[in-house]
Amino acid sequence: MAKTNLQFRDLDIGTHERVIECIDSSVGLHAIIAIHDTRLGPALGGIRAYPYASFEHALTDVLRLSQGMSHKAAVAQVGTGGGKAVIILKPGQIKTPELLRSFAEAVNSLGGQYICAEDYGVTQQDLALMAQYTRFIVGIPQTSGNPSPFTAFGGLRGIAAVCQHLWGSDSVEGKTIAIQGLGAVGMQLARGLFWAGANLIVSDINPEFVKLAVRDFSAVAVSTEEIASVECDIFAPCALGGILNQDTIAKLKCRAVAGLANNQLLTSEDGERLLARGILYAPDYVINAGGLINVCQEIRKEGYDARAARVLIAQLYDVLLKIFDLAEKKAISTNRVAQEIAEHHLDTGIGKRMQEPVFHH
Ligand SMILES: NC(=O)c1ccc[n+]([C@@H]2O[C@H](COP(=O)([O-])OP(=O)(O)OC[C@H]3O[C@@H](n4cnc5c(N)ncnc54)[C@H](O)[C@@H]3O)[C@@H](O)[C@H]2O)c1
Repeated sequence: MAKTNLQFRDLDIGTHERVIECIDSSVGLHAIIAIHDTRLGPALGGIRAYPYASFEHALTDVLRLSQGMSHKAAVAQVGTGGGKAVIILKPGQIKTPELLRSFAEAVNSLGGQYICAEDYGVTQQDLALMAQYTRFIVGIPQTSGNPSPFTAFGGLRGIAAVCQHLWGSDSVEGKTIAIQGLGAVGMQLARGLFWAGANLIVSDINPEFVKLAVRDFSAVAVSTEEIASVECDIFAPCALGGILNQDTIAKLKCRAVAGLANNQLLTSEDGERLLARGILYAPDYVINAGGLINVCQEIRKEGYDARAARVLIAQLYDVLLKIFDLAEKKAISTNRVAQEIAEHHLDTGIGKRMQEPVFHH
């Protein structure tokens, strides 16, 4: 494979510790790595490969996503900071092994300040290839692999916390839960809820996934337009971002929203809208932190242990109960409480990494 020909440009972004544009025209690489905050540990976050309409769109996305990772990691206390990378694809461009190698070398040049992982548009095979060229990578097939079962387990614990808070018992038995999206995490969540006794309403743009849920879990199928407004106890968004907005919140007929999709609130005011409607919201980056908690177990001195991940993810139950209680006491939205906790941890060093990460692959 030809040697890479990387060039870097530091972008001066006041909100972030470091933002680097990476270009290797010999292999068609154009990427941005954003390091938001490393006060609690090295920045960790996925690589998103997407045909962005412009450089500005890509920059906006990577800045927002890396800041979100800082908050997610700070609340979960995993000893990492917030980072993210985007690879800007040209229309129709595919990620070649040469491009991925060059990106891996860009990651190396940061000396471990940024640890990369999978995100939209990047596969386990891509990660496996990059792992040949960089140590600073987690979630590869030969270590912890697919994070979605762990994310879904966190979802089950989060929904149990919702039930405890609203109905005084953590059981989902007899509760009706509407799931939007039956992909990697949505289907696992559906399975767990079914076996715990819940009744399911489901929707997906893929009719095969819907058919499976109807057959295996006796789920009731509804259209993609209906799912956010069906009558249910809990609405669980597991597909798209921005699903909770002025329009959809007015139509919700549930007592709580607790799902695994990222960036569910279109704007932070939507958290206030849910509060005003008396709908309990499990902040997305808290309830869906299971995947992050899992990959962080890879860089322990002792090496990866799925049981350690399970113990820590189970504690999302307590974290969410605390958020719900605080929000009720202060009469503010749950997303504001989550943000306050994240900022408090960042400012005071709660959950700060005490040992250097160890890369075992
Ligand atoms: N996989 C993880 O471990 C993980 C971790 C944290 C957060 N998340 C978030 O959870 C969400 C789902 O992730 P995933 O890994 O399951 O992705 P996925 O692509 O496997 O699943 C998404 C599913 O949503 C469906 N979908 C898309 N548009 C829809 C619509 N309008 N209505 C109904 N269904 C629709 C798709 O057909 C697909 O089945 C994403 O927001 C992701 O960022 C995932």
